[in-house]
Amino acid sequence: MTETDADANPLMTGRSEELFPQACTLVIFGGAGDLSKRKLIPALYNLALDGLLPTQFAVIGFAIDELSDEAFRDFARDGIERFSRRQLDEEEWQDFAEHLFYQQGDFGEAAAYAALKARAAEIEPRFGIAGSRLYYLAIPPSFIDTCVFGLRDSGLVAPADQDLPFTRLVVEKPIGRDLESARGVNRSLQACFAEHQLYRIDHYLGKETVQNILAMRFGNSIFEPLWNSKHIDHVQITVAEAEGVGTRAGYFETAGVLRDMVQNHILQLLSLVAMEPPWSMRADVIRDRRLDLLQCLRPMLSHEVDRQVVRAQYASGFFRGKDAPGYRREERVAADSTTETFVALRLFIDNWRWAGVPIYIRTGKAMPKRVSEVAVQFKAVPHMLFNTDTDHPLEPNVLALRIQPDEGLSLRIGTKLPGPKVKIYPVKMDFRYGSTFGDQSPEAYERLLLDVMAGDATLFMRDDAVEASWHWIQPILDAWAASGERWLPEYPAGSWGPIEADRLIDADGHAWRRL
Ligand code: BG6
Repeated sequence: MTETDADANPLMTGRSEELFPQACTLVIFGGAGDLSKRKLIPALYNLALDGLLPTQFAVIGFAIDELSDEAFRDFARDGIERFSRRQLDEEEWQDFAEHLFYQQGDFGEAAAYAALKARAAEIEPRFGIAGSRLYYLAIPPSFIDTCVFGLRDSGLVAPADQDLPFTRLVVEKPIGRDLESARGVNRSLQACFAEHQLYRIDHYLGKETVQNILAMRFGNSIFEPLWNSKHIDHVQITVAEAEGVGTRAGYFETAGVLRDMVQNHILQLLSLVAMEPPWSMRADVIRDRRLDLLQCLRPMLSHEVDRQVVRAQYASGFFRGKDAPGYRREERVAADSTTETFVALRLFIDNWRWAGVPIYIRTGKAMPKRVSEVAVQFKAVPHMLFNTDTDHPLEPNVLALRIQPDEGLSLRIGTKLPGPKVKIYPVKMDFRYGSTFGDQSPEAYERLLLDVMAGDATLFMRDDAVEASWHWIQPILDAWAASGERWLPEYPAGSWGPIEADRLIDADGHAWRRL
């Protein structure tokens, strides 16, 4: 690892203020778990490869499992070998591994926190760390209260007004499973930490392409004048996943795709696409604008839910040359489950900019491919000079922001087909990250971990934004609960969703994009 240098730090450019990762210990609650292995440790390792971790840095995995430091390092190495975007480099690994430690403990016992405190106090002087800590809760939500009160009661939380050493807490989604429980989680967090010490992760905000939404909108002069109801016909957001629920059925059964994807990732995406221009890049200025947007979402009235929202479940199908089981036949799924694996909905943003512009959202599991994009469709040209054939109208201009895979953006425009006749043909102006910048983009967790170390909360969710998005989602949950539905519409695994989703958009004279 090397000393970090903001000038050489590719993740730091483009900010109004440069931020440095600060010396600290990262304590991963659930350090021996899946998130730690698949995402956090590989992300840290890639930051180390890029020379972005401070030398004054240590990681303590903290969990109930009995592991030695050595066993934790083996676990970490395995995670890097299997899940890192770059291969393990033996020399770099040796250096990185020296910063990894493990502390066994039961989150419910005061003795575990005392042991953690003693262990950190023993490790930190070796690396010149003066007691600043990041606690990362990579644990099921049911443990949040136990852990935050455990930390507070053991004196492991630095005073909120103290600059150094600092304490920060990183919390993974889900924050609650409805508005009331989300408020409850926020109350517990705030009983132990000040809001500025809290970093609620939504990993979509750490994706390079998601951040590019702001860069594209506000770093260019050509888009913003068109970014309103005068010029935009509608917006489509698609987040499709090819995988079914797989091994996560236990969790997914209690969540469903509305809670799992729409309440957080997709509403956050929407807030970046549709928010008003921030007057500065300061964290709270951007977070205020995102919040404003969430507060402008037209409330969903209970009697409208059926008309505006389609939910469905995947049935058995044929996918990638194989039979794919239906959701109700997946392991750990109830045979009469009504958990939705697909949602399509139409919403409106009640403000000056977006008045009357429908926003269509669809997301689901077991769809034909993994693809996420935001597509902005512009209005048709006002006067029929070229498209006089009403049976074959001109294709409208579409700006498509491809979040993943094949990250980039494309603009569909009409151009004259060569030849003696005047015929308009749609072509694409295409920008691809891969071909322009070559290197793979950093993973979302790399960016987000670095931001927490630097104390930059821009890409994290504030309490009010979490509650505002639950506030909007809640009537849908209530209407579904009240309906007592025993069967949901179905779509074959490996298809684009149920016919009801097509009808939803078709009713407005539009169609889902073919992706
Ligand atoms: C997670 C959801 O937050 O995001 C998962 O819980 C989902 O169900 C995942 O699969 C999608 O993330 P990504 O980065 O693969 O699009």
